[in-house]
Amino acid sequence: MARVQKNRPIQVQSPKKVLITGGVRRMGLAIAHAFSERGAVLGLNYHHASKKEAEAAQEECLRRGAKQVFLIKGDITKEAAAVLGHFLKLAKGIDVLVNNAGVLPPQRTLEELSLKDLQATLNLNLLAPFALTQAAVKEMKPGSAVINIASLGAFEIWKSRIDYHVSKAGLVTLTKALARELGPRQISVNAIAPGAIAADPEQAKRIGTLEEKIPFGKYGVPDDIAKAVIFLAYDASYITGETIIVDGGRSVFR
Ligand SMILES: NC(=O)c1ccc[n+]([C@@H]2O[C@H](COP(=O)([O-])OP(=O)(O)OC[C@H]3O[C@@H](n4cnc5c(N)ncnc54)[C@H](OP(=O)(O)O)[C@@H]3O)[C@@H](O)[C@H]2O)c1
Repeated sequence: MARVQKNRPIQVQSPKKVLITGGVRRMGLAIAHAFSERGAVLGLNYHHASKKEAEAAQEECLRRGAKQVFLIKGDITKEAAAVLGHFLKLAKGIDVLVNNAGVLPPQRTLEELSLKDLQATLNLNLLAPFALTQAAVKEMKPGSAVINIASLGAFEIWKSRIDYHVSKAGLVTLTKALARELGPRQISVNAIAPGAIAADPEQAKRIGTLEEKIPFGKYGVPDDIAKAVIFLAYDASYITGETIIVDGGRSVFR
């Protein structure tokens, strides 16, 4: 006979231990700020950013209310286990893993795209989130969450972005496969697919003129993504394997 559970009342959740890859810049930093405002213990992973930039991010997170902020330098394509291990040692546990780090490589036609290029994109956008999740879930308790930052590029195809599309579509499928695998342990695995998000004028310039293709008529900002991450981390109680598209309505044209 089907089992009916008691309703799950909305509760104010306690602070969480959160590791964010690429956590000291742009979208990763906005996500870090949002968790800081909820008093989380944070691990901010970074690779190319300077120590100064990382320390500024740490200071701002503490100012916004983070309980503790650990800076974890490391290339997640090569040192995923070490990055995760370092965070676990410092934070003594993990409740939320945000796989935010990623790359949008330059446009390359089929002729220009080498196997090495493809491998490099997959390493960062798909294999590193896999490796980090595999290591993190060993330490996660029921109620924990993995949140992958995918892309609208998982669902639509842009010119000469073969490696990016394959990597982000792979991440969406990985999200579903891991949700099935980890559901019995009450660990949720979800993704967010941002549309065009511009953190600064330089990034807006790189995205190009897309506004007319967006019903809201404007690019998103990193905070739009952070809000969706916070929803998945704190309030979503019966969602797993899902990808939330945050694109100002752009995908209505698909
Ligand atoms: N902006 C958009 O319009 C948009 C749209 C769709 C999806 N996304 C996705 O959103 C995520 C964040 O994007 P963003 O706009 O904030 O882009 P971004 O400024 O290029 O950020 C990329 C992040 O990845 C980190 N990173 C790169 N290589 C790394 C490595 N080997 N090890 C550890 N961290 C590494 C970077 O940290 P360091 O600089 O310290 O190396 C940086 O924080 C990415 O997954 C991206 O694909 C963005």
